[in-house]
Amino acid sequence: MNSTVLCNRFTILFFFTIFPFCLSAQVFSIDGVTEAKIDFVIAQMTLAEKVGQMTQITFQVIAQRDGDGEIIPPGIVDDEKLRYAVNDRHIGSILNIPIHAFTVDQWHDIITAIQDAAVRDSRLGIPVLYGIDAIHGANYTTGATLFPQSINLAATWNPDYVEASARITAREVRASGIRWNFNPVLDTGRQPLWPRFWETYGEDPYMAATMGRRYVVGLQSGGEGDEIYVAACPKHYIGYGHPWSGKDRTPAILDERTLNDWHLPIFREGIKAGAATVMGNSSEVNGIPGHANYHFITEILKEEWGFQGFFVTDWYDIKNLHERDRIAETPKDAVCMAINAGVDMSMVPFDFSFADHLAECVQDGSVPEERIDDAVRRILRVKFAVGLFDDPYPDENLKKIVGAEEAKALNRKMAGESIVLAKNENNVLPLARDMNILVTGPTGNLMQSLNGGWTINWQGNDESLYPEDALTMVGALKEAAGEAHITYVEGAVFEQTDYSSFPTCIITDIDEAVLATERADAIILTLGEPSYCESEGNIDDLTIDDAQIQLANAMIETGKPVILVLAQGRPRTVSRFVDNVDAVLIAGLPGMEGGRAIADILYGDVNPSAKLPYSYPRAPNALTPYDHKPLEADTYNPQWEFGHGLSYTTFEYADLKISQANLAPGETLDVTVQVTNTGSRTGKEVVKLYVTDLYGQISRPVRQLKGFQVIELEPGENKDVKFHIDKTDLEFTGLKGKRVFEPGTFEITVNSLHVRFEGLEAKNQ
Ligand code: BGC
Repeated sequence: MNSTVLCNRFTILFFFTIFPFCLSAQVFSIDGVTEAKIDFVIAQMTLAEKVGQMTQITFQVIAQRDGDGEIIPPGIVDDEKLRYAVNDRHIGSILNIPIHAFTVDQWHDIITAIQDAAVRDSRLGIPVLYGIDAIHGANYTTGATLFPQSINLAATWNPDYVEASARITAREVRASGIRWNFNPVLDTGRQPLWPRFWETYGEDPYMAATMGRRYVVGLQSGGEGDEIYVAACPKHYIGYGHPWSGKDRTPAILDERTLNDWHLPIFREGIKAGAATVMGNSSEVNGIPGHANYHFITEILKEEWGFQGFFVTDWYDIKNLHERDRIAETPKDAVCMAINAGVDMSMVPFDFSFADHLAECVQDGSVPEERIDDAVRRILRVKFAVGLFDDPYPDENLKKIVGAEEAKALNRKMAGESIVLAKNENNVLPLARDMNILVTGPTGNLMQSLNGGWTINWQGNDESLYPEDALTMVGALKEAAGEAHITYVEGAVFEQTDYSSFPTCIITDIDEAVLATERADAIILTLGEPSYCESEGNIDDLTIDDAQIQLANAMIETGKPVILVLAQGRPRTVSRFVDNVDAVLIAGLPGMEGGRAIADILYGDVNPSAKLPYSYPRAPNALTPYDHKPLEADTYNPQWEFGHGLSYTTFEYADLKISQANLAPGETLDVTVQVTNTGSRTGKEVVKLYVTDLYGQISRPVRQLKGFQVIELEPGENKDVKFHIDKTDLEFTGLKGKRVFEPGTFEITVNSLHVRFEGLEAKNQ
């Protein structure tokens, strides 16, 4: 333990030597010894210290400002403001960056200054928990490894990659001195218009729960020993990802069954995996704002699931209960309401009013002091779990691990396996390196279109901040095939006409692009989106911009082979021209190595294996998901189906077998299928298992994903792939709102093979 930890701290130190430091696991859990330490700390806290502990402010509040009130870049701690926040207001947490990523050295200085104030110079010496959005890597640390965004990792269908990326993220975040990450996003991605669609693992809850669980495990267990390395924060609990309008932070209308079967299970897996914290839904579900929902926060999350960590609000969301949602008549009522609903920490984020109001709520009896003690206990548990009471300072030795070469190589591999080959007529791909290629389109020379938001700055849109060795598609194609073979004419660009609206795409030099096709053997048409994050990404139409359609048609008219590459955060519809292009790569947001990964596929160095984790709509309002009801069968006609993705080789499926014809509760059904590589290249195949419940007390989805595995096969090689099904895979929320398992016939589908079995009543019933 750091000898300077805790004032009144000498008593506390003495106490801790009697009850030696002992934490059980990287899975968040409670133990008696830690609880006793927490009792001891809480017993000494004043009300002001308790409500301070529940307060989280943003870095801006402690930043130095120039004469015009502007933050001095990149953000320097103002000692006086820091002392006020930590020593006078006793805040428990700080978040965010003021402008853009800090270097690891700058982070060390910042965290050290904060912990000096908190641990060395405050009455009780309780360390501050710094929280950050490290969404696709340690995106706020210069030079960190920035992976494909979650929607792309889902497209790999490989949970090992999710865990590996989370481990590296944890190491690079911890190397910066930070121990809390506001990730993973466990919202269900069933509304592609939503500007945070790319932060999700797609439309399927089984997939999202599998990936989410592995992210939590990877993030929290990055280090050695029992300590949680970086605390995870599944967000935004619950229903945030399915806004009816498709706009960020707008209401969701979700019936209980949809919530139970498509939204809650993902978070439940995150909690089961041991997540230490949870963040709330900044919007509302069925009229109840996420931060005032006692049923969801207290009854389900804390009581039913036994969550022992703490619940943090999203940005400004207690104030929103009064100012925006108008369910609280005063700012103080909003505070009482949220804390009584089960909120433990408020991301205030700009002032100290929350703490003042909360103290009043306790003093006038609107919030019981036990609720405050419970919240503080939960916060302290997490601080103990991440080792802050042991040593709150950054570790100098970790600095060197940021941006390691091995991580970069893994990143490129993951990126390559996250890019979907959606179309490849006449095997136009892969390309030969000696072909003359024209690259055109607004995303071809942008790093932001490969990375999306949460990249170096919030919106990810400052090209000047990207590392010099990171390559756009144009740069990567030149690196792969030589400058002489690649010509770039942008054709169209994104222009931000008004800061509050989404950038529009405008034509620049379409004639020049057409002219340049004359000496080209093929055209790589790079379309998609600029980067964006949260409400800044709101759009009214999922159709790709007119200017991009115009450019596409101009390229198609030249008669040269057109290979469309879509770099974008959500599936912008392309049906107006896509039948006339020869090949399509859905690159999504493949991250910092995305340019190289795209070139790897285009030139055939990597055989594509990714599959869509969502249904790619054909038209803006054609948003039927793959697991729709039989009644909607005629409406499922996406551009590309959930699970679609081609390879440069071919696979055949045979011998779908089950271990028994019946399945009773408590039993496991083994399913086996043989997969053969019938083409001429080694390739990876994603084997997916779907279950259909033929008849049910309520209408059942046409099929639901219940298993998947990635295998690699050499030409001519075959493998038996095994899955296991049990009762939990067959349950659903029935007529009475409870989980039920209904006896009857079920069908398993793997590729185009089917087999049926009977689900039986429990034997002793
Ligand atoms: C976002 C959260 C994020 C928080 C802190 C909010 O605006 O909705 O996802 O964690 O800001 O940056």
